[in-house]
Amino acid sequence: MAFGFMTSTAPTSPHASVRSEASVTQTDSHGETSELKAVAAPGAVIDTAGLAGPLFNSLPRWLQQELRSDHAGEFGAVMIYRGILAISRDASVREFAESHLRTEQEHLALMEEIVPAAGRTLLLPLWRVMGWLTGALPALFGRQAVFATIEAVETFVDHHYQQQIVRLTPEGKHGSLRQVLIDCQADEVSHRDEAASLASPNRNVLTRLWCAVVGSGSAAAVVAAKRI
Ligand SMILES: [Fe+2]
Ligand SMILES: [Fe+2]
Repeated sequence: MAFGFMTSTAPTSPHASVRSEASVTQTDSHGETSELKAVAAPGAVIDTAGLAGPLFNSLPRWLQQELRSDHAGEFGAVMIYRGILAISRDASVREFAESHLRTEQEHLALMEEIVPAAGRTLLLPLWRVMGWLTGALPALFGRQAVFATIEAVETFVDHHYQQQIVRLTPEGKHGSLRQVLIDCQADEVSHRDEAASLASPNRNVLTRLWCAVVGSGSAAAVVAAKRI
């Protein structure tokens, strides 16, 4: 599909209306704090024209690195849900994972349009394995482990997108790119909230340790994807 004609309806998740707003507190040069909010318009049609691969090379280096990590993250997310679906025979888990997988495939398609092959991390083969295991391992332990894992992953991704969004001003020249990030973030937040609503608050030590590993592993993956 020619990128110039590509559009995405966002939020893509049926649960995205649960929460489509994220905020962060920032301190300005005068030491005053203000709350910046990124708001996704449910059902809005996003025009991604002008974000095509060749223009990726003209973006500032920090933004190229962030987008490279976004592409890697969405690739990893697809693999997580494939890992869950490869293992779990629980109907409720499979329905949950199939729904999320469709959204992540749309996110990945968007990132593949924005980040050309030459701009992507070289570590995708590693993310393929690590992402799959991040979904498959908890699936071996049952539905509660899956929901806790997804809550941990999507909590990380929400913060990851938010720190990018606040660096891009809505009226700036990267405003349309910012909107893509906002809409992806809204879907991740709905994934997180859905997982949190299904997950039991009573978690054993192993589950809590696993979720901590997932969070720190995601952070390490972002650092690596920006550099390699
Ligand atoms: Fe995603
Ligand atoms: Fe997600």
